[in-house]
Amino acid sequence: MDKVSDIPSRPDKKGRLTYAVYQLGRKITRLPFLGALIPKALKTRVQVRLLTEVFDHLPDRQYMEASILPALADLKPSRVLDVGVETYTAHYGQWFPPEPECEYWTLDLNRDVARLRPKERHIVANVLNVASFFKPESLDVVIMNGPFGYGIDRLDEQERTIEIVRTLLRPGGRFLVGWDLGPDGRPVVVNDPGLGDLRIKDPTEMQSIRSYFRHEAPAGLPARVTFTECAHVYDWFVLA
Ligand SMILES: C[S@@+](CC[C@H](N)C(=O)[O-])C[C@H]1O[C@@H](n2cnc3c(N)ncnc32)[C@H](O)[C@@H]1O
Repeated sequence: MDKVSDIPSRPDKKGRLTYAVYQLGRKITRLPFLGALIPKALKTRVQVRLLTEVFDHLPDRQYMEASILPALADLKPSRVLDVGVETYTAHYGQWFPPEPECEYWTLDLNRDVARLRPKERHIVANVLNVASFFKPESLDVVIMNGPFGYGIDRLDEQERTIEIVRTLLRPGGRFLVGWDLGPDGRPVVVNDPGLGDLRIKDPTEMQSIRSYFRHEAPAGLPARVTFTECAHVYDWFVLA
């Protein structure tokens, strides 16, 4: 993986500069006396802002905003579920028309990110329990960019997640999976306690995917997208 400092992939020049400012800011706010003079809320706000800027300059993020979200919006979905929220993804709902045309839902088991989303369309839960929030075949799109390898680390959980997504998507519904490819050719698991063969797989190699989904993107886009400057992979699937 092409690695710059401790961020997961290489942003462009402006992103790298912003990250340097972010790191400098963190050092300053940690100096005893000087740090104490800056209110905590202001520190957090500035740090979140700068980190969001950095992520916006990563190539996979730019692709998400330039190609994936517009392509999803063009499908005119009535209900979208986006699993996993971060400060730099909290605005993704803006790509979709407002209700009643489209419901854009988010879900994350991390309670801390709930504040980033309107509470009537955000669910705090494990995705393995998402079937209790939606009826079968009631979703047009499920976006799962990041959770595989960043919380959903075991193959059995990955298989169960896909099985649940399959029941919630309507026939022909779209499933977008984003994950990181490791140097060993397998998906990266950020906190791997030594899972070995129990670890998650490349989604295209999974039985549940092969049985129920086609590896296919909306017109004009490739089914798999990779990047020369970072390890991120996007895979598009459609429920057969
Ligand atoms: C790397 S972040 C990705 C966030 C965002 N989707 C993106 O595009 O960057 C992974 C997120 O998935 C969430 N997550 C991990 N495992 C989960 C699970 N089993 N159920 C719900 N959310 C989960 C984490 O809390 C985290 O916010």
